[in-house]
This record gives sequence, C-alpha cells and structure tokens, in this order.
Amino acid sequence: MEKERIEQLIQTGRDFMKFSKEQEECDFESDQMKHLPQPELCKEKVSDEIISLDKDFSKLKITKDFTSVLLDRKSDRVYTDEPISLLELSYLLFMCQGVKEIKGDHYATMRTVPSGGARHAFETYLIIRKVDGLKEGKYHYLPLTHELEYLGRIENMDQSIEDTLLGQNWAKKASVIFYFSFVPYRCEWRYGIHAHRPALIDAGHVGQNLYLSATALNLGGCALAAFDDDCCDKLFGLDGNEEFVVYAMPIGQIS
Ligand SMILES: Cc1cc2nc3c(=O)[nH]c(=O)nc-3n(C[C@H](O)[C@H](O)[C@H](O)COP(=O)(O)O)c2cc1C
Repeated sequence: MEKERIEQLIQTGRDFMKFSKEQEECDFESDQMKHLPQPELCKEKVSDEIISLDKDFSKLKITKDFTSVLLDRKSDRVYTDEPISLLELSYLLFMCQGVKEIKGDHYATMRTVPSGGARHAFETYLIIRKVDGLKEGKYHYLPLTHELEYLGRIENMDQSIEDTLLGQNWAKKASVIFYFSFVPYRCEWRYGIHAHRPALIDAGHVGQNLYLSATALNLGGCALAAFDDDCCDKLFGLDGNEEFVVYAMPIGQIS
C-alpha cells in the first residue's frame, strides 16, 4: 500500500478517537430528540432451545478478595483443555453483561458494567467447546432473562476458532470464546454523530469485567482485538453494519 494512503488511514483512526470541530459545533438532532421510537434494549431470541442460567453465585464459593483479583489479573493464553461448569459460565456472563435492573418502561438496563447513557449496545455470542452440561456449538446470551439460546452446531470448530481469531490457534483449547458485537443504532438513537467513541470505551469495561470475573474463578482469559471481522460476523449471522463483532475473549482452565 502507498505511504500516502497509509498516512490517510492512520489519520482516519486518529479522527475517530476525537470529536472534530464539525461534530462539536453542528446542530444535529438525535433520533431521540425527534421522538423516533427507541430501539430494543437487547436482541430478541431467535431459537427455541433456551438454557436457563443459575444466579446463585454463592455456590461458587469464591474466596479471592477484591485486591487479589485486581493484582492477579493477567492475560492467559495457555489452557488445560478442561471444561468449566455451567455456573461458572453463568457468572462470567452475568458479571460482564448481566442486567441488574430495567429502568422505566423498558427505557434502559442497569448492568454490572457502566455504559455511556446506559445504552449497553453490545450482544454476547459464544463458541462453547467445553462447558459441563452444554453441547458444543454457537450460543447467544439473553441478558434480560439471564438465559442462553443455542444457535447451532459449528461444522469445524477448531478451524472456525482459528479463522475468526486470525490464526491465534492457542484459543482452540479455551472452554468458551466470547465474541461481543456492537449494535450501533442503540447508541446513535441518542447520541447520533457522537455515539461511536464512547461505545468502544464501553467495550473496555466489558472486557475488564470478564478478565476480573475469570480471575476470581481462577480461570484464564485474554482480550482479543485481532480477529477477522467478516468471519466473526458470518459465523453469528450478523450483517456487518447494523451489528458487528468488536471484541473477543477466550476463557479456559489454567494450571
Ligand atoms: C483491547 C485489547 C486487545 C488485545 N488483543 C490481543 C490479541 O489480539 N492477541 C493477544 O494475544 N493479546 C491481545 N491482548 C492482550 C494484551 O497483549 C495484554 O493485555 C498485554 O500484553 C498486557 O498483559 P496483561 O493483560 O497480562 O497485563 C489485547 C488486550 C487488549 C486490552
């Protein structure tokens, strides 16, 4: 690629990170200000195969104190290939995307992570390899009811993991791989041209909560920004514009 084009693309990246004068000064009206209907808080379920998740996390008997969890957090890329329990998976999901309260008449969700304007514009998809009590395959988290829906088999799981994660094949031994998608209109409805930077900051909170909750359970994980966008979107049937994967994290048992 030509040097000039590379410089342009770098500038595009920098421009995304800050609000331009034009963005700051323009008198745009958001769809919320125009009284257009609010988008759904979460995606509707599409499958008939629903798995309820237990929320009695006292059964996990977590003994690590808060300071140890923060100090012990690190990126782990070597997993023992052992399963995690369904309750552990339930804990991980709840701590990174769980809904604690619904405000107003389905106006906003309050969750275990913060989110600019409580927009919570992410959906959580999973490749499950080894979770006790669950068959292998693709799943989608339903945060309003704390359930999973089964989305189907994956023809060649090892290959899919490798392809979606740009050849980071150490992830093939994870028990579960989280893929977080972004649904832009959930933020754009309120923030329009200012929606996108805060949304990526939100993703960081989701990732950190997942790291910390895995650490509390003595599991390991590693945040991933290197993934194949099209391949991830295709795997979960996302159109790549109204919804697309922005973050991933394998989680597994560590020795
Ligand atoms: C946003 C983000 C993206 C990352 N992407 C990758 C990745 O694609 N592959 C990888 O092996 N590690 C990835 N990491 C992990 C970092 O390399 C790791 O956090 C860093 O080396 C610091 O190590 P620590 O997490 O153990 O403190 C990512 C971390 C973050 C926060």
